[in-house]
Amino acid sequence: MFILVGVTGGIAAYKSVHLVRLLVQQGHDVHVIPTDDSLRFIGLTTWEAISRNPVTTSVHDDVARVRHVTLGQSADLVIVAPATANTLAAMAAGLASDLLGTTLLATTAPVVVAPAMHTEMWRHPATTDNVATLRERGVLVVGPADGPLTGGDSGPGRMSEPDDIVAAALAAVSGGPLSGLRVAVSTGGTREPLDPVRFLGNRSSGRQGAELALDAARRGATVTLVAASVDAGVLDAVAAHPRATIENVETAAQLGEAMGRAAASADVVVMVAAVADYRAASVSERKLRKEDGPLESIALVPNDDILAGLAAARRPGQTVVGFAAETADDDLLERARRKRERKGVDLLVVNEVGWDTGFGAGGNTVAVIGAEGAVVAEATGSKAAVAGAVWDAIAAARGIR
Ligand code: CTP
Repeated sequence: MFILVGVTGGIAAYKSVHLVRLLVQQGHDVHVIPTDDSLRFIGLTTWEAISRNPVTTSVHDDVARVRHVTLGQSADLVIVAPATANTLAAMAAGLASDLLGTTLLATTAPVVVAPAMHTEMWRHPATTDNVATLRERGVLVVGPADGPLTGGDSGPGRMSEPDDIVAAALAAVSGGPLSGLRVAVSTGGTREPLDPVRFLGNRSSGRQGAELALDAARRGATVTLVAASVDAGVLDAVAAHPRATIENVETAAQLGEAMGRAAASADVVVMVAAVADYRAASVSERKLRKEDGPLESIALVPNDDILAGLAAARRPGQTVVGFAAETADDDLLERARRKRERKGVDLLVVNEVGWDTGFGAGGNTVAVIGAEGAVVAEATGSKAAVAGAVWDAIAAARGIR
């Protein structure tokens, strides 16, 4: 592979000598692009000797070959290690003030950054925002690790070890452990209309399903996310991912149809959406008015159980995963076990909901029930962390390591 290694001005640059060496030893064609500032730490001669390729820092060298564009265009992979707070800010802003900046704008290859800085700088809201922006654009952020820093202090900010950066970067190119897998995920809460302006709905934010879709895409899967009503901004990162497609729906019936289509070619089906169990028996064509007389009841009819239907119709080798939102009480797990059997799914992820937990909340606590009702995974944390644990359980159930 043609690999570019950007080296920016931090003391961790010395570790990148080993990183370049590892890549060269594995047979890759490695081109180092140091920033001027980084040359105070490691000189040009070292990079040329280790990479076995000429090294320059300037857009004005080799102008005839338009070096700042050709390097970026030729790259199969770009690694920036160490990535200083300044470099992350420049990348987020799209600055092209040196050869590394222009190259990063010219490339369509996967970009991996290994941040290195003091803890205070890493935790500064500006850095947090810049890292979030880069992640949304698909940049893979490796580390930083938690440990002793150069100033004698300790905390998150240490550049990850070169072996870890190389492993993560090569996995990013090969597409990750779920590469080739087709995944269908549903999320959000359905809205069942009563008249043109009113509906029966629920409090689902769609966040957990969006995190599941995003995590699968980042692990290499091709993802269809069928989204009923979700909170603002929840789908942004999924929409930005090149391996994810979003289909927006409103009612349970529409969600069922869209999931049916997506499931027809999916290897894994995950139903996270909060689907209304009932819809209005009849939907008024015009707005219901008070002058029509008092509305004392609304006649409801049951919706199909989409998950049970998908499980019954599953393709050979397909894994079907359901979610169950249960309010906490003594037999939460027992009820979840019965629900898994009743719906005929491979895995049931049970999460506790209440007035201030589960729906809409930032974090989640889940248990994953597998064959014979065994608890195969448990996780508590952010919805992103829970999504990771659920995919670990799905991958384990499919024998993916
Ligand atoms: N689900 C579905 N179709 C429905 C209702 C629910 O596909 N009409 C799916 C949800 O997406 C979720 C799972 O079924 O994956 C669990 O839903 P839940 O409402 O908890 O299950 P119910 O069978 O409705 O049980 P309960 O009576 O406890 O609400």
